[in-house]
Parts: sequence; structure tokens; C-alpha cells
Amino acid sequence: MHRREEYYSRFMLVLRDLHKCFGSIVAVADLTLEVNTGEVFGLLGPNGAGKSTTIAMITGLLTPDSGTVDVLGLGSPTSAAVRMHLGLAPQEITLYADLTARENLLFYARLYGVVNARARVEELLALVELEARGNDRLATYSGGMKRRLNFAAALVHDPKLLLLDEPTAGVDPQSRNRILDLVRQLASEGKTIIYTTHYMEEAAKICDRVGIVDGGRMLDVGTVAQLVTRHGGQSSVAIERAGVQTRVLTNDPVAEVTRQFAIGGVTSVRVEEPDLEGVFLALTGRSLRE
Ligand SMILES: Nc1ncnc2c1ncn2[C@@H]1O[C@H](COP(=O)(O)OP(=O)(O)OP(=O)(O)O)[C@@H](O)[C@H]1O
Ligand SMILES: [Mg+2]
Repeated sequence: MHRREEYYSRFMLVLRDLHKCFGSIVAVADLTLEVNTGEVFGLLGPNGAGKSTTIAMITGLLTPDSGTVDVLGLGSPTSAAVRMHLGLAPQEITLYADLTARENLLFYARLYGVVNARARVEELLALVELEARGNDRLATYSGGMKRRLNFAAALVHDPKLLLLDEPTAGVDPQSRNRILDLVRQLASEGKTIIYTTHYMEEAAKICDRVGIVDGGRMLDVGTVAQLVTRHGGQSSVAIERAGVQTRVLTNDPVAEVTRQFAIGGVTSVRVEEPDLEGVFLALTGRSLRE
């Protein structure tokens, strides 16, 4: 295999020095990122961090002020041939309220020139568990059902790279779990997925790697474990003896708990491991939950 082919069989997406401003607002700055083929990559950041702007540049909906986007080694998404490999579930749902779920999916399938469009639509309705409601107009759907259909619409043409912009925003726990399971299932079938969220628990649960974004900048990238090791700080061990609580910060909570039990008299122990919240706080000085 040539070096170039080898590089791109590993990277589904390469972003180099992306910049995008809206007037005086710097939406995305200095963004460089390589997304591995087959991974679920999470963009984790608060409102206004630049997540949707990044997604829009990856899909070619927005042109970067500078920098490059390369999909599959084929180049920029301004080319229709490149865009065929991308599937987008946008943050703002882009389905037709007056069409049924079936009609909506059929519309997108035909737009992409999908062969056997009707069969594909049935497959997707089953995937997102909406077969029973497939003939109902979108206007009659709940928020979670609309999200699931939005997700299905991104898949009509079986894209290699799936971009999910806040796919669980405003959905009930059941739809949320269905969507999270689907993301992992699609990744196990070989799709590459970029997933934006401001829910740390979701990012920790389903992403192979996470990029922490704030103020248009990618502050760090890694697995959750790597990020926590780098920025999460120490574990906190709270020990209670005869109604008196003490707290110890440590890098080795197991050793600390063992040591405390050896001293004796312990009535309760609670260990708090560092998590993504701590990582975000360390990187930005702010809490993501605020
Ligand atoms: N079309 C636009 N015109 C002007 N400013 C914009 C536009 N799109 C985004 N911005 C600004 O760029 C910054 C990044 O916005 P973006 O939508 O990318 O953030 P986000 O991380 O997706 O946030 P959210 O979690 O709220 O969806 C924000 O300050 C936003 O106000
Ligand atoms: Mg957004």
C-alpha cells in the first residue's frame, strides 16, 4: 500500500488549522484534528463552543476562512463526490412537518439517488423503531421521535462518515438510550461517527475519543481515561470515624482506603474519582454544568 493510502485508511477525516469568524466572533480557531476510521469521536463543549460551526465546515455547508477539510483522502466537501460519503443529522431538525416519516425518508433517499429506496426506508424505520408510526405526519411526532427520524434521514445513502449534531437534545431517556445504542452499533459495523454533545456522561459512555472545545478552541483530545489522567486531578477519599469526616486527595484511592482501614475505626468511606467534569473545569476554569 502507498503511504498516502495507508494514511487515509487510518484517518476518515483530517482538519488542518480551520478558522471561522462571524464578524468579530471567532467561532472556530486553529482547529486541527485527525479522526480515525471506525471511531466514535465526541466534540464536547458548552453552548457557543463552535461545535456546529465545525460540523458545518466538515459537511461543506460553511466555507472556512482558512484551513482545510479532507474527507477520506478525497479532499474538500465542496465536491459532491466527497459529500456522498457524509451523512448529517443537524442540530435543527430538517424534516417536513406535513410529510409522514415514510415520505420524509423517501424524499431524502431519492435526493441521494438511493437504489431500492422503498426497501431502504423500511430498513431505516425499523432501525429507529418507528415502523408503527411510519404513516403519521411528522407534525404529530414527539421530540424524541423527530430526533430518531432525523438520525435515520442521515443514513439513507449509507454514508461512511456520520455527523450527529446533538442527536439526543430534548429527548426522553428511552429515545436517548436507543440513539446511543445505535451509535455504538453503527460504529461496530465500521462507520466513523462524529458526535457533538454537552452531556459529559454521554461522551464518556459512547465515544472512543473526546475533544474538549470551548470558545472555538480544541483544548485537548484523547480517550476519557487519558483526559482524566492529564487534567482530572486527584481522587477524593472521604472517611468517617465516629461521626467525624475527613477528606484525603490522592492519586491512588485503593491504597488510601486500604491504609485507612488498617488504621481502624472507619464507619464509612466514599471515593470520588476524577471525571470529565473535572477535566473541563481544569481546562477552562468553568463548569460544563453551569
Ligand atoms: N450564522 C452565524 N452568524 C453569526 N454568528 C454565528 C453563526 N453561527 C454561529 N455563530 C456564533 O459562533 C459561535 C459558535 O457557535 P456554534 O453554533 O458553532 O456553537 P455550538 O458549540 O454548536 O453551540 P450549541 O451547543 O449551543 O449548539 C457562537 O458564538 C455563535 O453565536
Ligand atoms: Mg450547536
